[in-house]
Amino acid sequence: MIVTIDGPAGSGKSTVARLLAARLGVAHLDTGAMYRAVTVAGLRRGIDLADEAALSRLAGEVRIDLVRDGDGLRVLVDDEDVTAAIRENDVSRRTFHAASNEGVRSVLVEAQRRIGRQWGSLVTEGRDQGTVVFPTADVKFYLDASAEERARRRHRELVQRGKEAAVASILEELRQRDASDRNRKVGPLRAAEDAVVVDTTRMTIDEVVDALMRHVRRAGGA
Ligand code: C5P
Repeated sequence: MIVTIDGPAGSGKSTVARLLAARLGVAHLDTGAMYRAVTVAGLRRGIDLADEAALSRLAGEVRIDLVRDGDGLRVLVDDEDVTAAIRENDVSRRTFHAASNEGVRSVLVEAQRRIGRQWGSLVTEGRDQGTVVFPTADVKFYLDASAEERARRRHRELVQRGKEAAVASILEELRQRDASDRNRKVGPLRAAEDAVVVDTTRMTIDEVVDALMRHVRRAGGA
């Protein structure tokens, strides 16, 4: 049973994917963490992230492991724990290099399909899961929300972690990431034709998870 959840940054997909996977009793695959992990590996090795050939080679060389840890996932690159490092702002800003790199994408898409075969059942989230990686998934979702609401959510998250940031600058960064995710040539962000589109702007996380569960049940998956 494969459920895909795609959508832009701040649409709520990570939290929703984790909760939905827990409710269904299946694994959760965070594919954004893999693009972030390649970025961290590149930065650690002093590679120019804009050097497409070098970054693509690196993606083929490093081993990325996603390890279940309680409710969450730990991310390892060649056995080094980079779970915290991949969430740094600088990494969020620079991951577009890995995301728009054709070679990196083909390595990661293949790795994701392999994980799909190994795990059998999973809820996977990203930008291209329903369109490219798992086109025959049992249920596909596309989560969206207004850019303003997504910026407010990011802001709240940062404040909760004791960090300061202006909503306006978060909004600006989100818009840039949206544009880069939607306009790249390989694996662009878009809803699959057979995806259920959910606008989460005025919904709580629980409401979103309930709505998705109803669709999964209807599809015979729970
Ligand atoms: O979802 P998250 O914000 O962690 O993803 C980090 C970056 O990785 C995104 O900005 C996006 O460009 C890229 N990504 C991707 N394809 C995926 C998942 C993430 O290009 N399947």
